[in-house]
Amino acid sequence: MRNTYLLLLLPIVGLLASCSHSRHPNSLWYDPNDPGYEFAPAMYHSWAYEPLTQVTDKKGVSWYYNSTPYNDFKGKYNMNMLRPVPNTVARGKIDYYFPYENNDAGRALAAAEWTNPNTMDANRLAEGKRLYNLYCDHCHNENGDGQGALVKAGKFPTMGEYYSRLKDRTEGSVYHTIYHGKGIMGAHASQLGPEQIWLITDWVKVLQQSDKAFTTTTLEEYNTLMGVQ
Ligand code: HEC
Repeated sequence: MRNTYLLLLLPIVGLLASCSHSRHPNSLWYDPNDPGYEFAPAMYHSWAYEPLTQVTDKKGVSWYYNSTPYNDFKGKYNMNMLRPVPNTVARGKIDYYFPYENNDAGRALAAAEWTNPNTMDANRLAEGKRLYNLYCDHCHNENGDGQGALVKAGKFPTMGEYYSRLKDRTEGSVYHTIYHGKGIMGAHASQLGPEQIWLITDWVKVLQQSDKAFTTTTLEEYNTLMGVQ
């Protein structure tokens, strides 16, 4: 008797199971796009918000959809991170703040006010030269005469005319040019941090001294060149 009940139960269980199997091609409810039920969804969806992602499901406001009701997912960019508080600078990033606009007036202001807080030493000299040769010399050349490999190969226009004036550029002006770019020279602020821009600026000041100044390697040579006592 017990066996007969069991036999009756089997097809019922089978039928119920087939309902949920919408991913099985034999199922009446087969839908190839249906992801089915998620068992233990926390295994697939991170509890932590993915910082640089965009919210794809704007209706889902729980952790489940990688978004939170406090985020700007109704805003312009659908960003999934909080915006920085207006008029604030993140802790430890104060020197990333460069308060001069990307135009001639901004450059003139930076030229007059923006000064290097660092003092030169042997490491800074070597690192500035290394960075310059990495980021600038293909256009400006190793000695700074503007005849870099790209210019010589005709891939970039010559900068002869303005170069006669480069010697007058102050460190604030050079910083501004590296940070924002100038004319057809692109901005480097996304590739170089403030510390690196100062290192390169220091090396540009070395190059301003003479055509041969690029051979400077030691701090002693630097001090003689720059007239440092
Ligand atoms: C792709 C080529 C290219 C690269 C790379 C490049 N520059 Fe320039 N740079 C130029 C050109 C072209 C000008 C002339 C822009 C103008 O006057 O309109 C220029 C102008 C300048 C000036 C003079 C701006 C002024 O006040 O008139 C400085 C200083 C300078 N660059 C420094 C650098 C430094 C430092 C780097 C490396 C971080 C660098 N450049 C990388 C092409 C380049």
